[in-house]
Amino acid sequence: MELNGTSAIVTGAASGLGEATARALAQAGAYVVVADLNDEAGKEVAASIGGQFAHTDVTDPQHVQEAVDAAVGSGRPLRVAVNCAGIGWASRTVNRDGSPHDLAAFNRVIAINLTGTFNGLRIAAAAMSKTEPVDSDGQRGVIINTSSVAGIEGQTGQIAYSASKGGIIGMTVPAARDLSVIGVRVNTICPGIINTPIYKSIAGGDPAAGEAFLARLAEPIVFPKRLGRPEEFGHLVRSLIENDYMNAEVVRFDGGIRFQPK
Ligand SMILES: NC(=O)c1ccc[n+]([C@@H]2O[C@H](COP(=O)([O-])OP(=O)(O)OC[C@H]3O[C@@H](n4cnc5c(N)ncnc54)[C@H](O)[C@@H]3O)[C@@H](O)[C@H]2O)c1
Repeated sequence: MELNGTSAIVTGAASGLGEATARALAQAGAYVVVADLNDEAGKEVAASIGGQFAHTDVTDPQHVQEAVDAAVGSGRPLRVAVNCAGIGWASRTVNRDGSPHDLAAFNRVIAINLTGTFNGLRIAAAAMSKTEPVDSDGQRGVIINTSSVAGIEGQTGQIAYSASKGGIIGMTVPAARDLSVIGVRVNTICPGIINTPIYKSIAGGDPAAGEAFLARLAEPIVFPKRLGRPEEFGHLVRSLIENDYMNAEVVRFDGGIRFQPK
């Protein structure tokens, strides 16, 4: 899929992996709608890449429809949707004090990470179905979802997060099959540990403790022995979009890390 002259929507694009993706797509000539809850950062990113900000809570169908409409309204065909919006969550099935995992917290993580991804996928795909195909294969668009290696092997103390990310993996093949009739490809990326603001709140915001925490995170990474960079994620998204034979695939992006039980 050629990106130049198209429009794209990226959820969670005010920060981290979504921001890097929005920048990579804009660099390739796409008009990008930055769809995020964070107005201030989202507007800054959109302005810096010549795109447009759309205040979006991915759990809200109306918000996502408006963000997709903004892309379509740009006058360039909507060819790409990248679902990056998501939250981390750490809580055990039974807490140390013997109480069960909070159910509302579990539902919230599922609502944002899993249902929010499906919301972006279904509304963007419907808009893509109304465009003209770009090639003799009948291709109309590409959707990329962001799962996590936690969705494959699970992560201790992150049952809600792992379940939400596993759900995204489970959607990949059925979505690709359903959307094949309208010429839309679907792939999912499972990042390992990528250096984004998602880890900022950890270690109470203390920079030195934060650095030590990130260094510990990097220990089990096989090679290169460092955290991934958001630009490397943006590069992979672009590659998956531009390579027309990549479909229904779940791609690990993790420097070889495998999470072990603690
Ligand atoms: N950074 C990593 O190591 C890593 C690893 C695996 C998976 N991931 C996944 O990648 C995605 C992006 O993570 P990141 O590291 O860039 O995090 P981040 O916190 O830097 O960015 C997430 C963005 O999503 C937005 N967001 C949160 N809830 C939203 C909602 N309901 N509607 C719209 N926007 C919302 C936030 O405002 C933020 O801008 C997440 O789904 C995360 O689970 C990240």
